[in-house]
Amino acid sequence: MKDAFYLNISTTDSLGIGLFKYALLPSERFIITNSALAQMLGYESKRELKKEKLSSFFIHDEARFTFFKILRRDGKVKFFETIFRDKKGKPFWVAITASLVVSADKKEHLEGIIENISSHKEIAERLSLEGGFLQGLLDNIPDAVYFKDCNNRIMKVNKFYAEGVGLSLEEVIGKTDFDFFPQEQAQKMFQDDNYVFGTGRPIVGKIERTLLPDGSWNQVITTKIPMYDKAGKIIGTMGITRDMTAYAQLEKERLTMLINALKILSKALEMRDPYTFSHTRHVAHIAEAIGKRLNWDQNRLLGIRLAGELHDLGKISIPLDILNKPGKLSNLEYTFIQEHVEKCYGLIKDIEFPFPLAETIYQHHERLDGSGYPRKLHGDKIILEARVLAVSDVLEAMTYHRPYREALGSQKALEELKRGSSSAYDSQIVNIVFDLFGANNGKPFWVNS
Ligand SMILES: [Fe+2]
Ligand SMILES: [Fe+2]
Repeated sequence: MKDAFYLNISTTDSLGIGLFKYALLPSERFIITNSALAQMLGYESKRELKKEKLSSFFIHDEARFTFFKILRRDGKVKFFETIFRDKKGKPFWVAITASLVVSADKKEHLEGIIENISSHKEIAERLSLEGGFLQGLLDNIPDAVYFKDCNNRIMKVNKFYAEGVGLSLEEVIGKTDFDFFPQEQAQKMFQDDNYVFGTGRPIVGKIERTLLPDGSWNQVITTKIPMYDKAGKIIGTMGITRDMTAYAQLEKERLTMLINALKILSKALEMRDPYTFSHTRHVAHIAEAIGKRLNWDQNRLLGIRLAGELHDLGKISIPLDILNKPGKLSNLEYTFIQEHVEKCYGLIKDIEFPFPLAETIYQHHERLDGSGYPRKLHGDKIILEARVLAVSDVLEAMTYHRPYREALGSQKALEELKRGSSSAYDSQIVNIVFDLFGANNGKPFWVNS
């Protein structure tokens, strides 16, 4: 994992953006940086930089205090602008974006990027002193800025926008998003513009992915506001789009590291109890197949796959002689087994994911009619992810051999789901399971996945 992170960091040197991983108390040292960060701060090498503390680069104590305060409060800081001093003491403007990450051994790290924004600041300051500076100001904003009329036609853009779509400033005027972007994507932009135009309400900080003319994708954050004439009538919209690709990549890497760490835990469970491991792997495949039929996006599919893999992780704390006991369990033993849900929830509830992982696992033994556990939730109180996981779990568990009983086979499992459809299990999900079986000639559809 460390190597992968390091490799990704080194490939960003050519962008001139400083990437770093930094240990907070007690060591307060850089662990990984790219060369661009060392260069930006005036150091000969990354090794030399690693002797320094991040806080020593802040010129103003107040800014340093605010930065760490926001970090502690929100767990992350986005585009924090401040003045740094380099090794020789020369001041320059930077923008810091960073996340607080807690590693498996409970050590706190900062991961983030530092951009030198001095040139943007200098240009902006100079232009602000000159008259008639609107276009110049726009052109020096490192975000795409655009003004559209009430027919969604572009009236004005800045240089950053024009370069992004590969045209000159003049060529862009009069065109619409349909001239630059794929139909589906342009349609969404069109709807957003019309919403702002029609309601007078702004759209603030909408995150979306954009396909560039060269075929690559970037992730952007967009704000659109209405424009008014002197009489107060809306005459069009203005939008600002900021490229977040580097930040999104950093988030993706952080998530990958986190998932890998959790997978190590599930491997530990495998070593201890092979039954549970093959079960969770199958459940993950079943749940993902259902999620695909529900047209979930990649993020949601990743979430349900992970929930499948980790949902029984709490069994790691159950003694093996109970877990693998042949025959019927006593009430006390059954209560003990049920605790795996809360134990797993407790393990991961404080980790931030872009999907409801902990809640999905917490609810995977709940049933629509309130007959489940641990909270006896009813109907809509059970999130869709947990309903998918519940059906996947039952289907797998009944199909295969378990220490306490023979395999019942997928037909028996399907009968149980049919019997409980609508009362215990979500009927839409049960129907999907029948469809998936049908599409696979009545055989388990997860076996070769
Ligand atoms: Fe379970
Ligand atoms: Fe399970």
